[in-house]
Amino acid sequence: MRLAVIGGTGVDARRLFGDTKPLSVETPYGSVVLQEAQHESGKKVFFLARHGAGHSVPPHRINYRANAWALRELGVEAVLATAAVGALRRQIQPGDLVVIDSFIDLTSGRPSTFFDGEDGRVVHTDMTEPYCPILRQAVLAAGGDLPVRIHSTGCYVCTNGPRYETPAEVAAFAMLGGDVVGMTGVPEVVLIRELGLCYATIALVTNLGAGLSSDLLKHDDVVRTMQASGDLVCKLLRDVIDSLQISNCSVCRLPGST
Ligand code: HPA
Repeated sequence: MRLAVIGGTGVDARRLFGDTKPLSVETPYGSVVLQEAQHESGKKVFFLARHGAGHSVPPHRINYRANAWALRELGVEAVLATAAVGALRRQIQPGDLVVIDSFIDLTSGRPSTFFDGEDGRVVHTDMTEPYCPILRQAVLAAGGDLPVRIHSTGCYVCTNGPRYETPAEVAAFAMLGGDVVGMTGVPEVVLIRELGLCYATIALVTNLGAGLSSDLLKHDDVVRTMQASGDLVCKLLRDVIDSLQISNCSVCRLPGST
């Protein structure tokens, strides 16, 4: 099976796989540059830097549709994504990992579906289990051996950014049932499910949400924390890729997704 990694802040192809080969894929939504790499097991893996080369694309301008389409075009069946997040409650601490199992979408103005009705088709995609249970289980199994606290579930609140939240927003999101907050998880998860691929997000907590600590939030601090945990996240990704066997996922290959 073909696998891909979508690397968020602080996770790059070289760190993950060593040598890689760039390739470009044309999609109806624009072209996408990825890296082709080989896992030590011999499996071919594609790597997509979510924020582009040199972390140059902010969350609200990422071409999520082109990215998802390109992965499907390459024959990818399963996608592991990493994401930097802030914690919405103190039981979740910087340095922890969260294997996301649900989301709350607070974004706006992002193209967020392949089914916008232009072809006369109306498709409503089920989101009961938006993250692949087989992939999530594989992450949890591989993570059991690592020296890191892993939360086996967590609800990701996606904001538009690029600003961070106010303390009032952080308190409100926690009341809504959110566990962590980030800016890129949606519509990525939705679009990939619309295409019928398996997808999981490993969220790395880089900070407590605004107001939960006395520190101000700075992107450089987020990047530094992500870099510090980068080796661990890369090892986890490599171990998951090594162990992964998905022959037929009845959750993600939905009727209605093409
Ligand atoms: N808020 C939103 N996005 C983030 C945060 C945060 O606190 N930390 C890392 N990404």
